[in-house]
Amino acid sequence: MVPDKLIHSLRAARQVTVLTGAGVSAESGIPTFRDALTGLWSQYNPQELATPDAFRRNPRLVWEWYAFRRQMLTEKTPNPGHFALAEIEKHIPEFILVTQNIDGLHQRAGSRNVIELHGNLGRVKCFDENTVISQWAETGEVPPRCPRCGGLLRPDVVWFGEYLPADALEAGQAAARSCNVFFSVGTSGMVQPAASLPFMALEQGAMVVEVNPDETPLSRWATHTLRGPSGVWLPDVVKTAWG
Ligand code: OAD
Repeated sequence: MVPDKLIHSLRAARQVTVLTGAGVSAESGIPTFRDALTGLWSQYNPQELATPDAFRRNPRLVWEWYAFRRQMLTEKTPNPGHFALAEIEKHIPEFILVTQNIDGLHQRAGSRNVIELHGNLGRVKCFDENTVISQWAETGEVPPRCPRCGGLLRPDVVWFGEYLPADALEAGQAAARSCNVFFSVGTSGMVQPAASLPFMALEQGAMVVEVNPDETPLSRWATHTLRGPSGVWLPDVVKTAWG
């Protein structure tokens, strides 16, 4: 059962901030980062594919891995956890959803105020210039080339060893510091700097709620822990708070 205190705080909240990770998309059938290396890709280590060095060494291989993930995503749809977050947004004066996911499923479920910390699989940028590119000539070359400078195109996602987009990170941190209730949903809390956000919220006196079937480093500090899948708990929160 969702704790009464959580429901009271949620109904009274002026600002709610949510951090999501791969777990929120698990019930949509999207493998987490490490599980994504199935079938054809099982022989590769993600540390060797999701880095700028990997791209320099073998741009075709890295491009094709992301193309595979992009293709897989076209067959997936948001799950009840994504839809519940979009519903909560409608009831809260200031609602900010900070996600580490690159799958775009929050937006497809109707969430509006979304901050993407790790980029988006659907966008492409120039490896040399770092500018987002929306159109390019299909010459058969893999990866395709930047129409502006001729450099190689890459997915607009954050790779290991790269900085997060500064504006997204600053906005996410500000949202963590100023909320009344903070939800940490489907994230292992192992990857910085996202993992610090719930602790920033705690320091400012916010109620912090964890939704995760497994224990994480946040569990012992969280005000409330909803132990189980987000596709079950989040619709329950919405139903209990607003009928
Ligand atoms: P992880 O794969 O590290 O953690 C997923 C979390 O979701 C785990 O704690 C699971 O217990 C939990 N989980 C599984 N099924 C769930 C469900 N149905 N409902 C709720 N939770 C569930 O994913 P992230 O924490 O997102 O970064 O990983 C963070 C970052 O590490 C990723 O964005 C990626 C990766 O390396 C980059 O690529 C930069």
